[in-house]
Amino acid sequence: MTYVDELCAIVGDPHVLTDADVRATYETDWLRQWHGETPCVVRPSSPEEVAAVLRVAAAAGVAIVPQGGNTGLVGGSVPRNGAILLSLQRFTALGPVDPMSMQVTAGAGVTIEALQQHARASGLDFAVDWGARASATVGGAVSTNAGGSRVVRFGAMRPQVMGLQAVLADGSIIDQLAGLPKETAGLHLPSLLVGSEGTLAVVTAARLRLVPWYRHTAAALIACDSLTDAVLLLPELRRLPSLDAVELMMPEALAVACEFLGVRPPINAHEAGAFVMVDCAAHSDPSEELVDLLADLRGVLAIGPKREALYKVRDHITIAIGALGAPLKLDVAVPVENLDRLVRLVYKVIPTGARAILFGHLAEGNVHVNILGADASQDEVRERVLQATIELGGTISAEHGIGVAKVDWLKRQKGPAAYAAMRAIKKALDPKNLLNPGVLFATAPRRRRAARG
Ligand code: LAC
Ligand code: ZN
Repeated sequence: MTYVDELCAIVGDPHVLTDADVRATYETDWLRQWHGETPCVVRPSSPEEVAAVLRVAAAAGVAIVPQGGNTGLVGGSVPRNGAILLSLQRFTALGPVDPMSMQVTAGAGVTIEALQQHARASGLDFAVDWGARASATVGGAVSTNAGGSRVVRFGAMRPQVMGLQAVLADGSIIDQLAGLPKETAGLHLPSLLVGSEGTLAVVTAARLRLVPWYRHTAAALIACDSLTDAVLLLPELRRLPSLDAVELMMPEALAVACEFLGVRPPINAHEAGAFVMVDCAAHSDPSEELVDLLADLRGVLAIGPKREALYKVRDHITIAIGALGAPLKLDVAVPVENLDRLVRLVYKVIPTGARAILFGHLAEGNVHVNILGADASQDEVRERVLQATIELGGTISAEHGIGVAKVDWLKRQKGPAAYAAMRAIKKALDPKNLLNPGVLFATAPRRRRAARG
């Protein structure tokens, strides 16, 4: 009996996919930047089945790459070196919304959008949100500690995670879904697993915090003379009681997304150095707050369909850039007072003829650097931007994760002691390096990158 036969016995033949055509969608990420091959895609539907799959993989000496919505940007969910692809897409169970604790339990394969809709049906909301909400899943969001646009108000994924159910490499199941708001009983394993990118366990469900659903919204797009001016707006923006998002779009990013969608830019401001998109949400109309703010600024108010149109532009930046080519992508963050220095450096280090398209989340000093046409200088640009990020006190990944794209820089950022502790935890929980090898930590033989990134 081959291990593929054993997997069929666990999950049933229809859920072990071996045909090349069927495997293909799992082998390439959504932006077609990362590609690898897998002998089979296995789709279990319970933690017990995941545990059995992991035992078979361990016995066969084959690694496992877990995958959710496959919307990652750092190659962390694409198979490598003949690993089995473990898809969590059948974990779509959504528990009842508990209005008492304001929590819900969601399967790893539930999309962020489905989770939001489920919460809203009970008058609540899920706080973490970003453009890929229709495909991105709870498991992937937990595993990367995803952030998005509302971090300024509610934090990233980690503070939403009240508990997790996960399967360890040895097939044991951790079931910590009680969601107790207070618990000081030893190590909090769910917190450890958030951001571990499938290297310590396979997350199968999460107990998640919900927030009020603010039905009244108003946004504004502000044209600033410079990025420095945009940063200096932050203290004023933070005073808005209903502040929900502060997004940054450098002029190129706004232009590229508008062009892609075939729409006119929402604001005519040729000389702007940076655009800030402010979103407010409350239980009553927050537009007055924004009107007052805009009195002294160059900007437009966007309510109702206009706000939706503005968000559509914002949410399409990544796809629009992807349609222009395969950029060098770096998701970095620095203390916000250093953001301008970092962005200047990016413009300085790119070769002549290359295009830098920058956008991100202003309040967290988080910028998504996209360089088109860096060609032969790509490695040098990556090195200089990441090194500068570290020197400016920042992080080489703010919300997309390390994946396989940034393993070479992790130690530099964390320092030898913290990095050694991380490796020790990996070794203790996954001594055979079964789970997502090559992600977070380089493995020997060196990772083979299947495509650019
Ligand atoms: C965004 C994703 C790329 O901010 O993080 O749109
Ligand atoms: Zn982002």
